[in-house]
Parts: sequence; C-alpha cells; structure tokens
Amino acid sequence: MDRPVSEIRKEYSLQALNEREAETDPLRQFDLWFDEAVKSCAEPNAMSLATVDASGQPSVRVMLLKGYDQRGFLFYSDYRSSKAVELEANPRAALCFWWVELERQVRVSGRVERINSRESDAYFATRPRASQLGAWATDQSKPLPGREPLEQRLREVEARYAGKTVPRPPNWGGFRLAPDSIEFWQGRPQRLHDRLLYQRTEGGWRISRLSP
Ligand SMILES: Cc1cc2nc3c(=O)[nH]c(=O)nc-3n(C[C@H](O)[C@H](O)[C@H](O)COP(=O)(O)O)c2cc1C
Repeated sequence: MDRPVSEIRKEYSLQALNEREAETDPLRQFDLWFDEAVKSCAEPNAMSLATVDASGQPSVRVMLLKGYDQRGFLFYSDYRSSKAVELEANPRAALCFWWVELERQVRVSGRVERINSRESDAYFATRPRASQLGAWATDQSKPLPGREPLEQRLREVEARYAGKTVPRPPNWGGFRLAPDSIEFWQGRPQRLHDRLLYQRTEGGWRISRLSP
C-alpha cells in the first residue's frame, strides 16, 4: 500500500432520492433501483446476508438474490449450513446491497422462512448442471481435511448422475426474507446522503427520512 488507508475516500454525487418522487411501496422502489442496478452494476444481485446465532453472535456473508416480490427476497443455500442452523434458531435476518456504480445501498430486515419444496425443485432444475452436481458434492460449512475429498466427492456424484437428470438434494433449497423494514440510501456530496426508511405498519408502509 503506497497511501494510508485513512486517505481513501470518494465523494458521492451521482443522484438524489427524495420522498416526493419515491414510490409509496418499497418493493416497487426496490424494483426501480434493481432494474438500474442490472444495467449498471457488475453483480447486481450480490447481497450480504446477516444472521445471528443462538448465543447472539452475528455473522455475515455474501449471497445471490434469486427473486423478489411482495412476499419478500429469495435466496438459496444448503439447509445444513451455518447460516441455515442460525436461521433455524433465530429466523430474524438482514440483507444489504451495495451498488457502488450507482452510489446506492439498500438494507432490508425481517423474518426468514424456508420456501416450499416445489419452488426449490423448480429453481434447482434451471441451474447449470455443474452447479447442480456441486450442490451434491458439498456439505456446506463443514470442515474439510483438504481440497481432494471435495474433488473426489464431485467425481462420485458425476458418475452417479451420468446421463441422468440431477435431482435437488433434499438438504438444499430456498429461503425467503419477508421484509418489515427497507432502507434506501443514495450517496450525496459532503456525506449528506439521502436515506428513506420504509417500515411496515398495520395500515401499510410508513416512510421516514433519516439523518445521514
Ligand atoms: C458473490 C458471492 C455469491 C454467493 N452466493 C451464494 C448463494 O447464493 N448461496 C450460498 O449458499 N452461498 C453463496 N455464497 C457463499 C457464501 O458467502 C458463504 O461462503 C456460504 O454460503 C457459507 O456460509 P455459512 O457458512 O455462513 O452458512 C456466495 C459468495 C459470494 C462471494
């Protein structure tokens, strides 16, 4: 590093977000921003997923968003992974998107549920064959003594399913996070960013502006 980390900074100035133009429904607002992210960002559906274990320890990792609608935000994983175990003990979680090219962040929090097996089957069937086989080859989050046992397991599942359709592993499937709050953040000059927070209430979504 030839310059101190503390000197790295960027001024945000591309766009603004105001309550007059924002959608009243946060899923519609997300849809507008996601559309723009798809056009401008390298991995628009990459998001951080934060979970909290039974002892209160948070953990966060990057995941791929695989769908969204009024019911919530959809992602897929191994049902025996650390995140799945954490979600079992505590179904509350948060998502965070950072779309650097648009100087935008979206934060979502709510409750996570597993989706039904038909929906997971339907998505699994659309995945590239290599990813389908990969899902069978790994026990996500479990320790491995080296790379070779993983490669060996992949060779085994390749042989088992040679010439056949790869079924969904029973331990692999989707989760949906049903949002009860969504915050849209647009970077602005002088660190005076725009933040609009949508909170679910009995009567619909309440919108408030937060200090940057
Ligand atoms: C760009 C990117 C996308 C990822 N997408 C997923 C995903 O959709 N599902 C998944 O289970 N893991 C995904 N991962 C791997 C996770 O970050 C994580 O390593 C893995 O799920 C194990 O997490 P856990 O041990 O906390 O359960 C992705 C990682 C990166 C960097």
